[in-house]
Amino acid sequence: MSALLAITVTVRAADKPVSLQEIFKDHFLVGTAVNRNMVTGEAGFRRSAEQSAKDVALVKEQFNQISPENDLKWQLVHPRAGKDGYDFSAADAFVNFGLSNKMTVVGHTLVWHSQTPNWVFAGTNPPPTNATSFAAANTNAAPTNQIGRGRFGGGFGGFGVYTGPRASREELLQRMREHIHTVVGRYKGKIKTWDVVNEAIADGGGTNVLRNSLWLQIIGPDFIARAFEYAHEADPDAILRYNDYGLENPAKRKKLITLIKSLQAQKVPVHAIGSQAHLNVSINFEKMDETLTEIATLGLPIHITELDVNSAAGGQRGFGANVADNAATTQGGLVTDAEKKLADAYAGIFRAFLKHRDSVKMVTFWGVNDANSWRSQGKPLLFDVNAQPKPAFDAVMVEAKNISAAK
Ligand code: G3I
Repeated sequence: MSALLAITVTVRAADKPVSLQEIFKDHFLVGTAVNRNMVTGEAGFRRSAEQSAKDVALVKEQFNQISPENDLKWQLVHPRAGKDGYDFSAADAFVNFGLSNKMTVVGHTLVWHSQTPNWVFAGTNPPPTNATSFAAANTNAAPTNQIGRGRFGGGFGGFGVYTGPRASREELLQRMREHIHTVVGRYKGKIKTWDVVNEAIADGGGTNVLRNSLWLQIIGPDFIARAFEYAHEADPDAILRYNDYGLENPAKRKKLITLIKSLQAQKVPVHAIGSQAHLNVSINFEKMDETLTEIATLGLPIHITELDVNSAAGGQRGFGANVADNAATTQGGLVTDAEKKLADAYAGIFRAFLKHRDSVKMVTFWGVNDANSWRSQGKPLLFDVNAQPKPAFDAVMVEAKNISAAK
């Protein structure tokens, strides 16, 4: 009887499909962005409580690392000025969810041009007279990712950019230091990897390396070095990342390399490169291989931080990540033969991640399934709206098996 039981158990275990976290465990962590309703167990944006429970089950089954899609952004964690201006409830739920499920917990993000409340930049210094016309003047400006019209400071090129009287350099550095020390300090030893500076590089091939953000204008280019130093002071053991999108574009990648080499020359504690990888189905093995080969010359671990592959017909021009652009890039339905193209694209990029497995140490999807993706119309993930695996999931698993077979 007990032998029969043992056989049944073994067969069941063998039947259980292998998960992403399991199949890549010798190579890199596989993670996902999670949103508030997943970590609190409540109904939320786009999902009922029941759907959310399914999403949570999928997270626990497939992933060993989580990033907060929104809840550690300045706007949400520190909406008002001063020491009483923090709201850690959602961030605490996120961290507790990760730790109680034995996952690696990543913090996203400390210093960003977007999703930062206006009070952070406000002060008594008159703004430059051309402050409202930066969108036209700054050819490297990207549209913003801002939330809520006009309430939050964004980048340039859109509504809601803070144009009022400004803080001084010293005031803004002080606010940045206080924010970083409070947030990183609260989760010291729990959040072991942080996106310290997010999307500071200018888009396109222009000559400006840095985005013309309020951080740059008020503090100067050393705002990046200072942010890393403050984060290092707050938690000397944390892995500190520089995180950006569009690094598959050679011109932007060149700027990344210039920036990071300059930080390294100044001995700034930057420990890993975060490549967001918001891609579309035109991506392939060769492009990702070239991207990783060049980034790896910096000698730092590479983390793929926000992976998704847009299948929308309208989203096949660039590798951008701006929410403001997103409606346009998901219009027009899906590309022809979308499932196959998505599977091919994912196969190619995972082949490249595996080829560069000495450098690639973490791969995080930006969403659990197509229902909760920030660009859900483009059906960019490995699981569909019912949390079922798509052909792209199988394609990724095949790449992992090929590597094991080749050993
Ligand atoms: O939660 C509210 C909901 O109550 C409301 O009904 C709805 C109406 O629009 O909005 C919901 O909030 C949205 C929130 O995402 C939650 O889904 C915001 O409008 C929306 O602006 C916000 O967008 C987030 C965006 O960053 C801006 O912070 C996306 O979820 C998030 O995926 C995206 O993530 C960024 C990374 O942080 C940085 N890299 C690019 C990436 C994609 O843009």
